[in-house]
Amino acid sequence: MNIVLLGPPGSGKGTQAKRIEQIHGITQLATGDMLRAEIASGNALGRRVKGIMDAGELVPDDIIITLIRGRIGKPDCRNGFILDGFPRTVPQAEALDRMLAQRDLRLDHVIEFEVDEAVLIDRLTGRFTCQHCGASYHERDNRPKVDGICDVCSSCEFVCRPDDSPETVKARLGVYRRQTAPLLPYYRRTGILQRVDGMADIDAVTREIEEVLG
Ligand code: AP5
Repeated sequence: MNIVLLGPPGSGKGTQAKRIEQIHGITQLATGDMLRAEIASGNALGRRVKGIMDAGELVPDDIIITLIRGRIGKPDCRNGFILDGFPRTVPQAEALDRMLAQRDLRLDHVIEFEVDEAVLIDRLTGRFTCQHCGASYHERDNRPKVDGICDVCSSCEFVCRPDDSPETVKARLGVYRRQTAPLLPYYRRTGILQRVDGMADIDAVTREIEEVLG
């Protein structure tokens, strides 16, 4: 099963992708996480994209398409994958269609997360993530079960993302409206786009996604 999660920053894509990964045994491919790993490794690609990401802009399509092309052929994607944060532009979606066709694959579901903008700003400016496994929390609404200890991997180290400052979050939302929202009509035309209520609590969103996935 191959799935795209589509929605603005903070709509819950990463949170739900990790759950789908566990429930269905398919691999989460999060382009934001891949790019942050490149930055952490200090390589040339990481140095090239850091300023772009810190400003809340999109990394050039060719870089992202190369990352995904190299990834979906790997053995851990044999049972399927969850694309979290890709595609984000129409040229990326077109490139994905070509990549899948070359491998005789197709997308089974594109799931849109609908969340009000004021809620997105609150979620992102309150977010912190586990430095070790990337699990995502919120300082008020989604704290670890034991304060200071990650529920998933028991690490005690947490970080806030540099692009979660209020100004950069507003820039990212503008980028979503201008460059990513045009994907909604693109996928609506294919008949595989389905919407979930991303304002519901995390468990309720998971249940709604499970209904979509059947
Ligand atoms: P990326 O890392 O993909 O960030 P994003 O899309 O902006 O999404 P986020 O990770 O911020 O939010 P999310 O929807 O995953 O929400 P989450 O589950 O964490 O991209 C970062 C940057 O990389 C981009 O700006 C760009 O520069 C670059 N990039 C990446 N992909 C690219 C591409 N394809 N092309 C070009 N550039 C690319 O949840 C957020 C918070 O809300 C958490 O605290 C969580 O606990 C909480 N929460 C989640 N669900 C709920 C709920 N239902 N109720 C209450 N709280 C909730």
